[in-house]
Amino acid sequence: MHRIGFIGAGPVGTAFAISLSRHGYEVTAVHDVNRDAAESFARRLTGCRVCGTAQDLADGAEFVFITTPDDIIARVAGQLTWHTGQAVIHCSGACSTDILEPARKQGTIVGSIHPCQTFASIDQAIENLPGSTFAIQAEEPMLGALKDIAVALGGNWVQLTAEDKILYHASAAIACNYFHTIVKLAADLWQDFDKSTGEATQALLPLLRGSLNNLSTVGLPHCLTGPIARGDLGTIRKHVDALARRAPSTLPLYKALGMETIPIALAKGTIDQAVADELRELLKPD
Ligand SMILES: NC(=O)c1ccc[n+]([C@@H]2O[C@H](COP(=O)([O-])OP(=O)(O)OC[C@H]3O[C@@H](n4cnc5c(N)ncnc54)[C@H](OP(=O)(O)O)[C@@H]3O)[C@@H](O)[C@H]2O)c1
Repeated sequence: MHRIGFIGAGPVGTAFAISLSRHGYEVTAVHDVNRDAAESFARRLTGCRVCGTAQDLADGAEFVFITTPDDIIARVAGQLTWHTGQAVIHCSGACSTDILEPARKQGTIVGSIHPCQTFASIDQAIENLPGSTFAIQAEEPMLGALKDIAVALGGNWVQLTAEDKILYHASAAIACNYFHTIVKLAADLWQDFDKSTGEATQALLPLLRGSLNNLSTVGLPHCLTGPIARGDLGTIRKHVDALARRAPSTLPLYKALGMETIPIALAKGTIDQAVADELRELLKPD
């Protein structure tokens, strides 16, 4: 088994390293500019030493994961002296392996593996990782090694080109980050009847879980419910009027998302073109 080292002991590096070690991979070293983060990483693994410098780590590890913020990966790759045959990998979703070019020029094998998962908390991320999709950009033999990692962690993999990666990452940002934004906007509306965003979020969570369950078991477009799926023009009109009076800043997004929902209802087959046209009229931007 290869000796694996991590440069960057943030949530991704730490959760990835713990998951790998639980599946038989040998994580032997960590370095982070924040010594406390590196020590906390090492405490959670058996036989993992904290390296004072990134070069010390690179000298001893056969597989090096650079799990720093994206903007720093290229600098780290370019500053170090690497050895032939060593593997250098990053976990960025948006960046291609081009940023590892200085390491590749020194004879290393490069690749990237992005877990399509969110790492707000290390322990929650470890729990979430099985079943996740891992986006891999690499050529053989690194491609096979990264596919093996994805499968060992209980996940699936998708192979992407450098050009695909940024659009792939935009998709992940919409599905994950903007999902939170939409929930926040929905929960904020409860302030109008004196319920805090926190209380509203708790109240909406079962609905959100139900929606995710439907997405998973019923799938698009049939999982879509609600007034647009029913072609309920009167309800949509009331939503628009209420938002215009009581939460006007939310109205443009409500309308824009409503517009994007009409084709889903059409695909589900529960509205026809005439109703879709009336909905479009109600939801057109001011
Ligand atoms: N967060 C996510 O949900 C997520 C999901 C998938 C993939 N990713 C990718 O995973 C990578 C890491 O993300 P993250 O969220 O764990 O990042 P993070 O929270 O910023 O953690 C990165 C760690 O690297 C340290 N660091 C900064 N510069 C360094 C250097 N020159 N040498 C060594 N360590 C350095 C940071 O220390 P300081 O804090 O002191 O700067 C921090 O401890 C990124 O490429 C990101 O795009 C993130």
